[in-house]
Amino acid sequence: MASARIAAKRADARFSLSASSFPPCFKGVSDERQYNVCVIHVRNYQPEDFPRLLEIDQSCFVEGIAYSKEEMRYFVGMPTAISLVGLQDEEIVGFVIADRFRPRRASRSMGKIITIDVSPQAQHSGIGTLLMSSAEGGLKQAGCDYVSLEVAIDNEPALKFYKKHGYSVLKVLPRYYLDSIDGLLMGKRL
Ligand SMILES: CC(C)(COP(=O)(O)OP(=O)(O)OC[C@H]1O[C@@H](n2cnc3c(N)ncnc32)[C@H](O)[C@@H]1OP(=O)(O)O)[C@@H](O)C(=O)NCCC(=O)NCCS
Repeated sequence: MASARIAAKRADARFSLSASSFPPCFKGVSDERQYNVCVIHVRNYQPEDFPRLLEIDQSCFVEGIAYSKEEMRYFVGMPTAISLVGLQDEEIVGFVIADRFRPRRASRSMGKIITIDVSPQAQHSGIGTLLMSSAEGGLKQAGCDYVSLEVAIDNEPALKFYKKHGYSVLKVLPRYYLDSIDGLLMGKRL
C-alpha cells in the first residue's frame, strides 16, 4: 500500500479493544516430532511501539511505498483508528491499522483496513490472521457492517491472504501505486 494506502479521515469516538490472548502456534516439527512452541497474541498499540511499527513497515515495503514517519504518525493518531500489534514470544512482529467512516446518507459505518504488516521472518505463521480477525471484530463492534482495503495487483501473498479472509475484488484502480502499478479495491461484509 502506498500513499494510496489511504485512510478514511472522519472521526467519532475512540475505539478500544482490550488485550486478548490466542492459542499457541506450533512451528518446526522435527523427526522426533518435538514442537517449538511460540505464543502469539494481539494487543492495542501503545505510543512506545511506534519505532517498531516503522521498522516493520520498512521491511515489508520498498521506499516510496513504505510509510514515512509523518504518515505513520498520522494513521495511528486518527481518532477512530483501531491500531493493534501482534506479538510472538513478546516481540512485536506485526500490526494492523484500521479506521471507520460513515458515508453520507448511510445509516451504518464502513471500515477500512489502512495497512496490515507482518515482518518477513514471522510471515505465514498465523499472525496476520489474528491481526485481521481482531481488527474486523473491532470494526464490527464499532458499528461497521462492511470493510474495504486496497492492495497492489502484484502482491500475491496479500491477495491470497485477503481472498482467504473472504474479500472480493470490487474494482481495479489503474496506476494506483507509484503511479505505475495497478491496485485492487477489495471488500467484505462483516
Ligand atoms: C499479507 C500478510 C499481512 C499476511 O500475514 P501472515 O501472517 O503472513 O498471514 P497468515 O500466516 O495468517 O496466512 C494466512 C494466509 O495468507 C496467505 N499467505 C500468507 N503468506 C503467504 C505467502 N508468502 N505466499 C502465499 N500465500 C500467503 C495464505 O493463503 C495463508 O494461508 P495458508 O497458511 O493456509 O497458506 C503478510 O504476508 C505481510 O505482512 N506481507 C507484507 C506486507 C503486505 O503486503 N501487507 C498487505 C498490504 S495490502
